[in-house]
Amino acid sequence: MRVITKIHEMQTEIKNLKSQSKTIGFVPTMGFLHEGHLTLLKKARQENDLVVLSIFVNPLQFGPSEDFSTYPRDINRDQSLAECEGVDILFYPGVEEMYPQPSSVRVIVQERTDVLCGKSRPGHFDGVATVLTKLFNIVMPTRAYFGKKDAQQVAVVEGLISDFNFPIELIPVDIVREEDGLAKSSRNVNLLLEERAQASTIFKSLTAAKTEIGKGVRDPNSIKTLVTDIITSQTNGEVDYVEIYSYPQLKPLENLDGTCIIALAVKFSKVRLIDNIILEVG
Ligand code: PAJ
Repeated sequence: MRVITKIHEMQTEIKNLKSQSKTIGFVPTMGFLHEGHLTLLKKARQENDLVVLSIFVNPLQFGPSEDFSTYPRDINRDQSLAECEGVDILFYPGVEEMYPQPSSVRVIVQERTDVLCGKSRPGHFDGVATVLTKLFNIVMPTRAYFGKKDAQQVAVVEGLISDFNFPIELIPVDIVREEDGLAKSSRNVNLLLEERAQASTIFKSLTAAKTEIGKGVRDPNSIKTLVTDIITSQTNGEVDYVEIYSYPQLKPLENLDGTCIIALAVKFSKVRLIDNIILEVG
């Protein structure tokens, strides 16, 4: 595995690989790799000649009071895990390399950001879209892999790829969970012990919602109330939002119908966790 920290080196390498008509599978991450990331890497490995992993904790997508400085980092461990997954190139730039001067251009996401994390984290998706635009231009992948854990991110990236005509196939990958149902996340290590135990309630609340919908309930508000009540009664977490929208449009629904997402964010003392389920409602 080659570790590259410089953009120009990456571009030279990619140009060389492209001239040999190699397909490139790209997995952009912020590191502190877990089974979720590794699943994306495995899929990329199966479907492409080469796999590029990027690790970059992108300051642009963190708000001023968010966890940029405490975001977990462990490059040595990440490097070994990447090697085990057969990654060909690890792109690991520093902040100075990616943003050498205040940017003169930023990507602003206009659609699908007035809800969910876009609403709770103003500017977050502009930061994501800006860094991905740079990374897509640097890596020039054939396919890019994104987890459905960040379902709104998948929807936003779909828009980015389509609006800016990136010749990239977006591959969404199912959420990978712990045994108790908690969605794997780099941030889970910042949960207190007691909070970690309570956090399994998040997926239980989504499963309870699915069961109610299975019984025929179609009113989004009663489902939102059910999910909120389960979380507030069984955890110390503060519900940031519980929402139901059409997916991937992220438009409100009067009645559940078609492809719907139930998405939530819960704040614990040092961590904000997100999760969702996407359902086909007939
Ligand atoms: P990060 O949170 O490191 O996640 C990298 C990728 O792994 C994302 O596509 C995310 O959805 C996926 N992922 C995380 N947890 C997962 C899980 N439990 N199951 C399946 N996939 C999972 O998302 C980002 O980084 C950044 O916003 C990034 C796209 C790299 C831009 O900075």
